[in-house]
Amino acid sequence: MGRVATSNLQEGMVLAEDLRNSAGHFVLSRGTTLTARQIRMFKVWGIFSVAVEGTDDERIAREKEASRETTGRAEAFLETILPPSRRDHPAMAELHRICVERLAERMEGGFEPQILPAEEASFEEIRRCRRRDLSATSLVSGDVRLASFPDIYFKIRHLLESPRTSAVHLAEVVSKDPSLSARILRLVNSSFYGFADPIESIPRAIAIIGTKELSSLALAVSTLNVFDDVPPRYVSMRSFWEHAVACGVFARLLTPPGQTRLEERFFLAGLFHDLGRLLLYRRLPREMTCALRLSRRLRAPLHEAEQDLLGFDHALLGRELLTSWRIPSPLPDLVGFHHAPSEAGAPEGAAQLHVADILSLALQIGTSGSLFVPSLKAEAWENLGLEPEALPGLIAQGERQIEEIMNVFFGGESSS
Ligand SMILES: [Fe+2]
Ligand SMILES: [Fe+2]
Repeated sequence: MGRVATSNLQEGMVLAEDLRNSAGHFVLSRGTTLTARQIRMFKVWGIFSVAVEGTDDERIAREKEASRETTGRAEAFLETILPPSRRDHPAMAELHRICVERLAERMEGGFEPQILPAEEASFEEIRRCRRRDLSATSLVSGDVRLASFPDIYFKIRHLLESPRTSAVHLAEVVSKDPSLSARILRLVNSSFYGFADPIESIPRAIAIIGTKELSSLALAVSTLNVFDDVPPRYVSMRSFWEHAVACGVFARLLTPPGQTRLEERFFLAGLFHDLGRLLLYRRLPREMTCALRLSRRLRAPLHEAEQDLLGFDHALLGRELLTSWRIPSPLPDLVGFHHAPSEAGAPEGAAQLHVADILSLALQIGTSGSLFVPSLKAEAWENLGLEPEALPGLIAQGERQIEEIMNVFFGGESSS
């Protein structure tokens, strides 16, 4: 039976035999689960190694080496998407620290981040895709399939626009769509809302969370299938929505205390923030293939490559799209400025979205196709009034909610 040096002992380890001190006196019996206090006392008692169940020094050394190796690989991957030049802000330094830890944990569980090969082609070659004959407006208005939006969406939108919309009207419309109702009920009963008592019906859900919030949720859920025809070589739909949900959850958690009545708006803004990119993949596959290559060549976020090749990016396109669906203000603006929050009419909400997007990208929770983490705009961080030390708690809370919402949206399908 192997032994474990006192310096390698950890709380929770179980003694494999009775323990005696250097004078041979009985100290603890076999089967004792060690506490931190007992481990501290061992040196005082003259005990330098003990027999514990299931491990020994050699195995602990091997595990430490493996975990050092995994941490090294996690660091190497993060170096490619979040280089030191984008970590000079204290919040980004803290985020990087958390990301290394999280990624190493996931890698120990079998997750392997994809390091894309460097792009060899010259800028000139890639930039042959450059186009200046397109506009965000023409792309949106020229897409006939956007009109084939689920019927329920138009009904809800009609209700949202009517000043006389009542809870009863909304409950009637939502209840007619069983899968929508089921998803909404699961969502209002999740930790995202955190209500103590279960909510069992749509009218009850509306009474508790309000007409507006429930309409927003219904909109969100009915938008999930609109872009199902995007070729999976760009992004899987599950991965796209995971990134969107993560961004929505973090944006909501980043809501300053005085603005909690706007939380639902921020969740929705997160959910919709990269929709423009799906439209780009669908309408401009050749140009987007070039944009992805240019992004890798520049080692810069994809939206910068879109801007370079098209003269506008997915954020602006998303704003056009939401405006064309007549989604009420300020959602289209929040989406339109998530990469340039200081230019938004309402910088606070855009700042939350900007930071939430960075958190989701750095933590590798889903993807909308962009690999590189954008630079944090310092003024956006200032707007949040948050200390970097708050990030670990916020991220842990967010991760739980993201998992629950993904289960509601996708019924617990395994991650692709
Ligand atoms: Fe984006
Ligand atoms: Fe994003």
